[in-house]
Amino acid sequence: MATNNAEATAAGQFWDRRVRAAGDRVNWWSSDACTTHYNRGVCGQAVPGNSLGCRIALAAAAGRTLGRGISVGAGAGDKERALLKDAIVGEMQLWELSEARAAEARRRAEADGVGDRLKARVGNAFTEETGSFDLVTWDHSLHHMPDIDQALAWSVERLNPGGWLMINDYFGPNRLQWRRDEVNLCNGVLDEIDRAHGTRLRRVRQSNIITRLRMKHRDPSEAPQSEAIAAAIARHLGPATHIKPVGGTVLNILGGIVVPAFPEDHPAIATLVAADRDALAQGQWHFGFTLWQKP
Ligand SMILES: C[S@@+](CC[C@H](N)C(=O)[O-])C[C@H]1O[C@@H](n2cnc3c(N)ncnc32)[C@H](O)[C@@H]1O
Repeated sequence: MATNNAEATAAGQFWDRRVRAAGDRVNWWSSDACTTHYNRGVCGQAVPGNSLGCRIALAAAAGRTLGRGISVGAGAGDKERALLKDAIVGEMQLWELSEARAAEARRRAEADGVGDRLKARVGNAFTEETGSFDLVTWDHSLHHMPDIDQALAWSVERLNPGGWLMINDYFGPNRLQWRRDEVNLCNGVLDEIDRAHGTRLRRVRQSNIITRLRMKHRDPSEAPQSEAIAAAIARHLGPATHIKPVGGTVLNILGGIVVPAFPEDHPAIATLVAADRDALAQGQWHFGFTLWQKP
C-alpha cells in the first residue's frame, strides 16, 4: 500500500475528491473510439467499452465462471461490477484507500442488483486480506502501489491453483513525468488538431523536478514505480510471461485535453486514436495487458 500512513491518507483523500458520474466525458475512457482501439489491442475485437477487451480475454481464457475475485484500487468498482454482471466471476472483493469511492462502489452495486455479490473494503489489503481467490485483477491500479514486488508476490499468494491474474495497467514513466520525445510527439498531434479545426488546445508541458514533486504531493500513490512493473512481472510470473502492449501513450497524455473538447463523432477524436496507433507501431506504449494462470 502507500509507503506510510500519511501518504495512504493523502492518496485516499485525493481520490475521495474524484468520484465521477459514470457517463462524464473526461478522458480517453469516456470515448468509444478510444476504448474500441484499446480493446482491439487487448483481445482483437473492436468493441467499445472501458475494459471490455479484458473481460472478453479473461472469459475466453478461463472458459468457466470464476468463483471469487479480488481487486485492489478498484475505485467505484465499475469494472468489477461488469465482471459480475457478465457472469465472468461470481463474487468480488474490492479494496480501496478512498472511503468515498468504496461507498460509491457499494451504492452502484446495489443499484445494479449485484450488491450481495460485491464487498468494498477500505484499508490495507496486503496486511488485512487473508482469503484465497480464483481471480486477482489489477486494472489501472497496480501502478499506484508503492512496492510492485510486494503487490505481485501477494497476488500470486492469494490465488488458488488454476486461478487467474489479470493486469491491465500503466507501464509508462514514473509519476507521469513524460519523456521529451513523448511531449514533442503529443504537442505535434495538438498542432495538427488546432490547424485543422481552429482550436487552441492547451499544450503538454515538459517535466522537471518541480512537476515531479508537485505530482508526488498531489497524489502520493500516482505511479511511484510504474517503470518497474514489467521487470517485476517477469520475476514473479516467469520470464516468458507475455505483456501485450496496447498503446496508450497519446491517449494517456492527450485524452484529458482532446476528449472533453470534442464530441465523439468529431474528426479530432479519430486523429487522436490514429496518432496513438502510429505511436504503438513505433514502439511507444503506456498501457499493457497480461493474463497469467497460476499452476
Ligand atoms: C486510477 S484509479 C483506478 C480505479 C479503478 N481501478 C478504475 O480503473 O476505474 C486508482 C485507484 O487506486 C486507489 N488506490 C491508490 N493507492 C491505493 C492503495 N495503496 N490501496 C488501495 N487503493 C489504492 C485510489 O484511491 C484510486 O481509486
